[in-house]
Amino acid sequence: MEVIVARDYDEMSRVAANIIKDEIIKKPDMVLGLATGSTPKGMYRELIGYYNRGELDFSNIITFNLDEYVGLDKEHPSSYHHFMNDIFFDHINIGLENTHVPDGKAQNLEEYCKQYDRLIKEKGGIDLQVLGVGENGHIGFNEPDEELNMDTSIVELTESTIEVNSRFFESIDEVPKTAITMGMNGIMQARKIILMANGKRKAPIIRRIVNGMKLTTRLPVSLLMLHHDFTIIVDEEAYNG
Ligand code: F6R
Repeated sequence: MEVIVARDYDEMSRVAANIIKDEIIKKPDMVLGLATGSTPKGMYRELIGYYNRGELDFSNIITFNLDEYVGLDKEHPSSYHHFMNDIFFDHINIGLENTHVPDGKAQNLEEYCKQYDRLIKEKGGIDLQVLGVGENGHIGFNEPDEELNMDTSIVELTESTIEVNSRFFESIDEVPKTAITMGMNGIMQARKIILMANGKRKAPIIRRIVNGMKLTTRLPVSLLMLHHDFTIIVDEEAYNG
């Protein structure tokens, strides 16, 4: 595990975007695993900047997002579909047919989850997975529990995640209680993983990871320490508290 401490949010975003840029230059048809939330917004902004300056070409890139709320339309302003289009895909030269965000309105959700994993495999597997981390140690929507899912699955969100994510909705009652998420195996199969965290709220969980916590399904992020190419990029607030 490598830990990079950036001065602030902007520097963290630049470092992450630079890693992605290098990987895209090495493999212009790479499969990129993406996350939503507040953390990666600056990284998407940096990547759009590279595209606008003619330094990156996304036309052959394939993306898979980690998760989506169950029951939200793609157009719903709080859906992860909408977030990805609005924050990133609409501003670069990626074909929307090459982007994949789980469909929270799929008819048969269980079958859909299996299809999602099959599709990732068919496309050659994820080359680089971008992650954020929940204050409770979740990655994707793999919430702390006695057992964790291997494959893409439907999961119940914890009260704390619902509360934290209610800032993206008009009221907490609107936050869906279930979501589709890539499972632990899907994430761990990525050839390279980068995880970003910024701000004081993330300091307790980052401190535990950086201090070499024990593995526990009660903190799904701890399993990433088993990955052979795992980089954490944090700002000073998340690092020092
Ligand atoms: C989002 C995701 C989540 C977030 C995490 C942190 O696709 O998978 O695990 O990365 O909840 O969210 P923010 O970045 O909003 O603090």
